Amino acid sequence: MAEKRCWDQSQLRKYDIPLDEIPRLSVRDPRVDEFIAENKPVVITDTKLVASAERWDLDYLEQNMGNGDFSVFLSRNHKFKYFDDKKIAHASGDSRLDFTPPTRRVDMKLPDFTRRLRQWRRGDERMYLQQALNNTVGPAIVQDFLNFRWDWINSKQRTHSWGPLTSNLLLIAMEGNVTPCHYDEQQNFFAEVRGYKRCILFPPEQFECLYPHPVYHPHDRQSQVDFERPDYARFPKFREARGQEAIVGPGDVLYIPIYWWHHIESLMRGGYTISVNFWYKAGPTGQIVYPLKDHQKVAIMRNVEKMLVEALQDPHEVGPLLRALVLGRYTD
Ligand code: OGA
Ligand code: ZN
Repeated sequence: MAEKRCWDQSQLRKYDIPLDEIPRLSVRDPRVDEFIAENKPVVITDTKLVASAERWDLDYLEQNMGNGDFSVFLSRNHKFKYFDDKKIAHASGDSRLDFTPPTRRVDMKLPDFTRRLRQWRRGDERMYLQQALNNTVGPAIVQDFLNFRWDWINSKQRTHSWGPLTSNLLLIAMEGNVTPCHYDEQQNFFAEVRGYKRCILFPPEQFECLYPHPVYHPHDRQSQVDFERPDYARFPKFREARGQEAIVGPGDVLYIPIYWWHHIESLMRGGYTISVNFWYKAGPTGQIVYPLKDHQKVAIMRNVEKMLVEALQDPHEVGPLLRALVLGRYTD
């Protein structure tokens, strides 16, 4: 039976990027494990992973989330580009960077957040709640959390020898919010609870097409390319980027493989969205198999880059040194 589509093309932002579709497979399909084993993205349906959170809406969360603080990002536009506070001091020493935080992070109680969401008017700052679930949540939420399908997800973790679960991030977005393209250094089962999100992924081998900020920069792991207005003069290889997309809705779980780039947008005019992710550390490396995988090469690049920044004590010296190292010797 064809699935009913609860969204249409006009709710998607427009980008000049060729896109293929990420496969959707039932949880019972044996190919799911093949995709995960190969670090390839897949939308898994019917997992019931977060079915116990089906009743989560603003009213229910307001009543049951408890009195803890929630991290909420505020943005003057629809983009919420992540940055690492700890790297701001370092970057401010670099005159070429002049970093200005694109969003501000504030702590809010859940009822303050939901009230502001209900009262929101065009022109107000947009909000995006992003908070790891912790032990301040109320008993009903604890019960819902315990009723997640841990049996299913734990068996996936075991089958694929992933490391430990590090956190469950709760994401509550306003319609139209965008998380710009970045990669994480963890495996991610991304579970959609409410509303629809469009996820555009790129494999780690497209590193050169996506131009990540330097590792010491607050926007480490984020692409420098603005998908809405790509600067092709600075980022010419972005023309060669080719993505894979999925629209995830309630009940869907998207596997976002470690080091895979992802851009995520809550559909326009779709109401707010709620997602819960499951981040896992990479498994033990064990026997290293050659040729290396592309994500392993990205990890090597990060380490080399970090070492040079550290050893040279001046990010401006990294480029010239690397050029001297390769020119006429490792270039053809
Ligand atoms: C993630 C992520 C952003 C979003 O789960 O790794 O980047 O907007 N999520 O859902
Ligand atoms: Zn991410």
